[in-house]
Amino acid sequence: MENNSRRGFMGKAFGAVAAVGAIGSLVAMKKSWDPLPSVKAAGFTTLDMSIYEEGVMITEKWRGKPIFVLKKSAEIVAEEAKDPDAKARNIKIGEDNFMVAIGLCTHLGCIPAFRKDKNDFLCACHGGQFAASGLVKKVPPPRGFDIPPFKIEGNMLVLGEKGPEWTKMKETGVTL
Ligand code: FES
Repeated sequence: MENNSRRGFMGKAFGAVAAVGAIGSLVAMKKSWDPLPSVKAAGFTTLDMSIYEEGVMITEKWRGKPIFVLKKSAEIVAEEAKDPDAKARNIKIGEDNFMVAIGLCTHLGCIPAFRKDKNDFLCACHGGQFAASGLVKKVPPPRGFDIPPFKIEGNMLVLGEKGPEWTKMKETGVTL
């Protein structure tokens, strides 16, 4: 009798421990299912625009896509001043001018290469070319580089947020 109740107690105790263990591992599993805080924030990428060098094209990443960031030289800015389409795509942060675009060819999605000597982009897949503004220089790309949603916050550019400058670009058909 005593043995039985002791076994019963041990059985319950074991059961309780097992249940706690099971809940513990469920909690652990749930934690591993939940995205990490960094992943949750991954919808947004914040770029400090003060770190870029003029004329140097840097490829950043946003939502798994390459993002081209080019701080334009005075020479490029002067050239674009004559072209309203190029000006409409320009992103001005403080005194600096940038091209920020999704770095995928709008033809079939290859990643074009920046040609520093020509200040343009060449897509090796079918020979498409894009100007430093992101506009098409040579077909077959059907349109200029797409511009990711962005919001300017001081010196920072938040990719993934739809700020007024990007909304205007979208509304006027500058980007998809
Ligand atoms: S994919 Fe770029 S030109 Fe065809």
